[in-house]
Amino acid sequence: MTISITKDDVQRICDEIERDPPPVLFAPEASDEEIADEVGRALLYKLFTRHFNVASPDTEPEPDEYETPSQAKFNKFVAFVASYSQGIWHSSEYVARLMDALRQQRAGGARPAAGGVEVEPAPTSKPAPGDFLTTGDWTRDDLERLLEAAAQFKRGEDVSRPLAGKSVALVFFNPSLRTRASMQVGIYELGGNPVVLEPGGTSWTLEHRDGVVMDGDKTEHVAEFVRVLGRYCAAIGVRTFAALKDWKEERRDPILAAFARHSEVPIINLESAMHHPCQALADMLTIREKLGAGPKRVLLTWAWHPKPLPMAVPNSFALAAAQLGHELTIAHPPGYELDDELVSQLNERAFDAGTTVKVTNDMDAAFDGAQVVYAKSWGSKMFYGSPEDDIETRAEYRDRWIVDEAKMRRTAAGGIFMHCLPVRRNVIVTDGVIDSAASVVIAEAENRLHAQKAVMAKLVKG
Ligand code: CP
Repeated sequence: MTISITKDDVQRICDEIERDPPPVLFAPEASDEEIADEVGRALLYKLFTRHFNVASPDTEPEPDEYETPSQAKFNKFVAFVASYSQGIWHSSEYVARLMDALRQQRAGGARPAAGGVEVEPAPTSKPAPGDFLTTGDWTRDDLERLLEAAAQFKRGEDVSRPLAGKSVALVFFNPSLRTRASMQVGIYELGGNPVVLEPGGTSWTLEHRDGVVMDGDKTEHVAEFVRVLGRYCAAIGVRTFAALKDWKEERRDPILAAFARHSEVPIINLESAMHHPCQALADMLTIREKLGAGPKRVLLTWAWHPKPLPMAVPNSFALAAAQLGHELTIAHPPGYELDDELVSQLNERAFDAGTTVKVTNDMDAAFDGAQVVYAKSWGSKMFYGSPEDDIETRAEYRDRWIVDEAKMRRTAAGGIFMHCLPVRRNVIVTDGVIDSAASVVIAEAENRLHAQKAVMAKLVKG
């Protein structure tokens, strides 16, 4: 049996199911596992019926009902898909979005709410990929086109103003220098008007969970917030860091997912719990600019920091590097592994791009021959909710997991040092390295502007 299932297949099927959910009402006490089973079941039937051209997509095939496929064939198919495609749909943003839709259904979205008023369904009209949430939603060709567009903006060859007469909302739950300034400047240079909002500061506190009784401290729901903003603005950027409290919950990027689910205009991820794609695009532009096109030996290394930090930057850097075919090594101490599903996505994308991803706990050796050294600290998945345990665990890595001159001497001639900034000097990287000719951190920060202009132009022009 030859079966080819791509992430695009899964995306399309998830979109179909979200538009037309299976006729199941979850019991209020249904667990996430039961919802996940339901999602898996719905996907399997759609995949199966599509592959074997069976007429009824929502009905489990009975052994005698069809000459082919038989129940045995179905079982074989299920076994095959279960072993083959875990990494596809379990790592998929679309599945997370679909699960949210089904949770909403469980919470009451598919039945009349109290008072008999139908719950308004979440809009699904944006063409895919209508948002910029993670580079993983975009193909390698898409990313190549964005990089070329960014380079044209930087060289001054593109002076178009696709945002003329338009506004873009920038929603910041967390502090920022580079993202905020470069987005504001970029919108201005594209002819538009930035509208900066800080929920809980300059705008109301926001609830993102569907189906909750809002009798706590949250004033407004994302469902209204983004749709109102969408009536004023051509796109919405949002920054929402991980709180580092609940790994299982935060790894799903629930706030970003709620923005994307409810918005009628494109959402741009300005760093969420799990991804920072604008940073990653600027990083890829910087590597290309400094070292030329083509695959490079790229090292992403963990570094000691006094407190645990989110994983968005390393996740997105690694993913984009794999998508663009770089030979990637990830170095971190034991216990600081990246998300399992992200790692399978990395391997999948690296395979597609004809390259490999290596993971090591040996920081020094990882520098040997590297052309790009990208430093970043992040927290351990094990210690979300208990930062004091992470701080105690990482204490032994202080002064050892730092980018210094001795390690940089192990890199290839012309090797560069990168960091997304802000960076703690003489903690993550020594003065000697960040102030050396190898350091490209300022150009990297500048490239945020050009990369984001390319993203905004693409999203509003289509
Ligand atoms: N690299 C980055 O996102 O910087 P800011 O946090 O200052 O926006």
